[in-house]
Amino acid sequence: MMRKPIIAGNWKMNKGMKEAEELASGIVEGLQGEEEREVVLCPPFTALQRIGEICLDSPILLGAQNLFYEAKGAYTGEISASQLVDLGCRYVIVGHSERRQYFGETDQVINKKLRAAISAGLFPILCVGEKEEEREAGKEKEIVGHQLREGLRGISEEEAKDIVIAYEPVWAIGTGKTALPSDAQGMHLFIRELLREIYNSRLAQDTRIQYGGSVKPDNIDELMAEPDIDGALVGGASLEVDSFIRIVKLRTPL
Ligand code: 13P
Repeated sequence: MMRKPIIAGNWKMNKGMKEAEELASGIVEGLQGEEEREVVLCPPFTALQRIGEICLDSPILLGAQNLFYEAKGAYTGEISASQLVDLGCRYVIVGHSERRQYFGETDQVINKKLRAAISAGLFPILCVGEKEEEREAGKEKEIVGHQLREGLRGISEEEAKDIVIAYEPVWAIGTGKTALPSDAQGMHLFIRELLREIYNSRLAQDTRIQYGGSVKPDNIDELMAEPDIDGALVGGASLEVDSFIRIVKLRTPL
């Protein structure tokens, strides 16, 4: 199976309703008929319903930035997988480094969120990535390997087929520093080999692995030219119509 590249915009905690509408409308207009790449917009919860309406009848899919793993009940302020499905979400980001860092999400919590997402029919984007000091200590593969093994613990091959992995080195997020395409490629290959070890070659070959961390119009092409980079999870550059469209649009190969 060919891996269809997937570009997702993670808007994080940005955009009021009007700005969100403008951004999504511009993207929908600019990407009419886009077939080469799967495109996902992940606005804040407050704009999901409206952006879902704007994306209806377009190739662009809706994603959420987080979910809670329980199905329902007394969990003030939380949102369940089925509530996201109700809003038209197809994807959900799980285990973003900002969730790990600021909200104390552990690999165990992330594992529960993955299961909840998959059983509700959502495609999770599982984020992994090392911090700067971990890379400096030469531990990046150990860290990412651990996050992956623990995040996927007990998840069957059938369930794992729905998962997209996003490699986001924490030191590259919002810093303007991007991993060298060759370094990112090395980590993506490592992740694919680990998936082969945990599951099998077919699943490893079919799983899409996105790169995230200061992806911009001027570095996307060299990243996408690497054989194991299957797309991007874009923060800052997904907040403007032109830069996001430029990132999505397929260029002539380098
Ligand atoms: P930036 O593209 O702003 O570095 O953010 C990356 C990211 O965290 C996407 O989830």
